Amino acid sequence: MLVLPERPRRNRRTEAIRRMVRETSLTPAHLVAPLFVVDGDRERQPIPSMPGYERLSIDLLLEKCRQLADLGIGGVALFPALPAYKKDKTASEATNPDGLFPRAVSAVKEQVPELTIFTDVALDPYSCDGHDGLVSETGEILNDETVEVLARMAVLHARAGADYVAPSDMMDGRVGAIREALDVEGFHNVGIMAYSAKYASAFYGPFRDALDSVPKFGDKKTYQMDPANVREALREVRLDLAEGADMVMVKPALAYLDVIRAIWEISDVPITAYQVSGEYAMVKAAAERGWIDGDRVMLEILLAIRRAGADVIFTYFAEEAAQQLG
Ligand code: PBG
Repeated sequence: MLVLPERPRRNRRTEAIRRMVRETSLTPAHLVAPLFVVDGDRERQPIPSMPGYERLSIDLLLEKCRQLADLGIGGVALFPALPAYKKDKTASEATNPDGLFPRAVSAVKEQVPELTIFTDVALDPYSCDGHDGLVSETGEILNDETVEVLARMAVLHARAGADYVAPSDMMDGRVGAIREALDVEGFHNVGIMAYSAKYASAFYGPFRDALDSVPKFGDKKTYQMDPANVREALREVRLDLAEGADMVMVKPALAYLDVIRAIWEISDVPITAYQVSGEYAMVKAAAERGWIDGDRVMLEILLAIRRAGADVIFTYFAEEAAQQLG
């Protein structure tokens, strides 16, 4: 026998020991389920590139939210899927107080109050250009004009019942402008979950199918970040914290664990990571072919995102993961 001063395997010997010394936890309370809402009655529309995921009308959305709350899931991130005829150059539906989205938010707040509601603040679901900001005649994404609309949108969401408004647009200065607009209107208890380090990623493909929001021209690289950069993410976080962000986000998650960790070192607010649509689709596709064990891979990735430093995870696996963790 070897005489070894250290044998790390001793601490892995039994399930009781492994459970006792486990460094990272993953519970349903850490998870937020993104949900897509459409107009209609008992309407459910499968999204082919996101197997198992559907756009839901408000009545079915409420049933889904009830199930998620009963599983102990922390919250929902709501996104509207609008028909093409409701989209225009100025994204006017984004600030319609009687629109589908504020109605959906109010209904969830009223019927399932234990869920924390995050609302998406960006123009792409409402814009015929498919961009997150207003677009000039020459195709430029207009920053300051967009921020003004986003601030009005945020107030509308707060009035409908949002717990956190979540600007995902990557315009400069939007967190401060939204904070000020919320405070002026008396919504000092409504938080801002800032998509601070949001990368120009190819992993968003299935989401754009879900909302039919593929940019009509160009790409999002003048506002979303270059995947090559990490110091720039720290700059974005520093600015969003100074402007009053209550949580900051890294998006996507799995290919950006180093960014989550780097932000963890400097952030004194909770960190959220978004395991995006393409990350979900990859696991689903490989599992469907029997090439990986989908349930185990799902939990391993979620745990890794937590281990990297995320407090909260936005994930399309929220319901399935909560069932497994149950
Ligand atoms: C846009 C937005 C996107 C996602 C959330 N908000 C896509 C984009 O920037 O085009 C992607 C989420 C996902 O892929 O799951 N405001």
